[in-house]
Amino acid sequence: MRLVDLKIEDVAFGGKGVAREQGKAVFVPYVIDGEVVSAEIVREKKQFAEAELVELKQSSADRVTPECPYFGRCGGCAYQHIAYEHQLAIKQRQVSGALQRIGKMNDVPMRPIIPSPKQYEYRNRITVHAEGGVVGFFRRDSHQLIDVERCPISLDEVNRALAKLRGQKHLQNGHYTLRPASGLRVFSQVNDEVAQTLRDLVADLVAPNQQLLIDCYCGAGFFAKALLDKFERVIGIDWDRYAIAAAKENATQKETYIAGDVESELTRSDDLLGAEVETRRLGSRRSVTIIVDPPATGLTEGIRNAITNLAPETLIYVSCNPPTLARDLKELQNRFAIHSITPLDMFPQTAEIEVLAHLRHRQADQYLPAASPKPRE
Ligand SMILES: C[S@@+](CC[C@H](N)C(=O)[O-])C[C@H]1O[C@@H](n2cnc3c(N)ncnc32)[C@H](O)[C@@H]1O
Repeated sequence: MRLVDLKIEDVAFGGKGVAREQGKAVFVPYVIDGEVVSAEIVREKKQFAEAELVELKQSSADRVTPECPYFGRCGGCAYQHIAYEHQLAIKQRQVSGALQRIGKMNDVPMRPIIPSPKQYEYRNRITVHAEGGVVGFFRRDSHQLIDVERCPISLDEVNRALAKLRGQKHLQNGHYTLRPASGLRVFSQVNDEVAQTLRDLVADLVAPNQQLLIDCYCGAGFFAKALLDKFERVIGIDWDRYAIAAAKENATQKETYIAGDVESELTRSDDLLGAEVETRRLGSRRSVTIIVDPPATGLTEGIRNAITNLAPETLIYVSCNPPTLARDLKELQNRFAIHSITPLDMFPQTAEIEVLAHLRHRQADQYLPAASPKPRE
């Protein structure tokens, strides 16, 4: 394969640097915008090419030494070679770029990205794989296992659980999710401090004295339970039966949790949710809030249509994938005005980004005043 000299123009969502060679985009991992590199083209497609870094010819002032010995081979982290402030700038740019390019938004109401107080030792769970005595993570872009003794972005307690697992004789092949002893057994946000900030931000965006909250993809009720005092009725939907069982464990009378698929539940009219929504519609003042926190695939067309039909005054969209968020907001913005977009760095050193979008129904103001978020430092 051939060697090329490239000037890195940007870092794309997913973590790879982008350069141009004879007009074609070339993606190179582990580089930084502004750097000049020599790279080997390893895959060539019609529209783009992929390359591996061979030599740094001009390195960025934002280049730092990675803390992890597996960095560059392990598929988990993409940005340990980049100073934290610059990681934040890259993520902020990736979110606004996706909203402009895919969401076709001209004026994106972006708020500054919220940093993580911890840049390492923040993950409260990891899933490792064991095969033939090797315990660790998959190599980047492959299913080849790397033996990992310690993961520096994870909490000490998680690393202790890893050491214990590695010490087991006759370990069966398979996946193991490791958490602190007190951790929930179902989906939970991975960075406790940033998750707390996200939950506070959501609470600030939701006005008090409302009738109904529908928390879609509610997990064990992370958002719903923090908002109970603002609603007469709370309905959570998630297809994970164990998460729903955890949500039900300490539920009050106003909470109902449904184990089911979000699209089917939102489009049924013969059940509790249909009845609740119909009651609100008939009432003189509607006050419904919907939260969606979907997996990376985002919302289906059916869910977007169901949300449009339910016409909540407030729609909170928590996303872990800016491109699918942008696609969904493009479709929703006819009916909903986008008030703010706040990226959060839930996953330092990795290419992942969490984004909070606050939408209001375009006719909402005739029903309910907007919440006035507390000013934040
Ligand atoms: C990103 S997590 C959010 C969990 C929760 N909001 C929290 O903060 O803990 C996504 C959740 O969506 C659920 N899920 C994914 N696809 C679903 C679907 N089609 N219908 C219902 N739940 C789904 C998963 O079980 C998971 O709990």
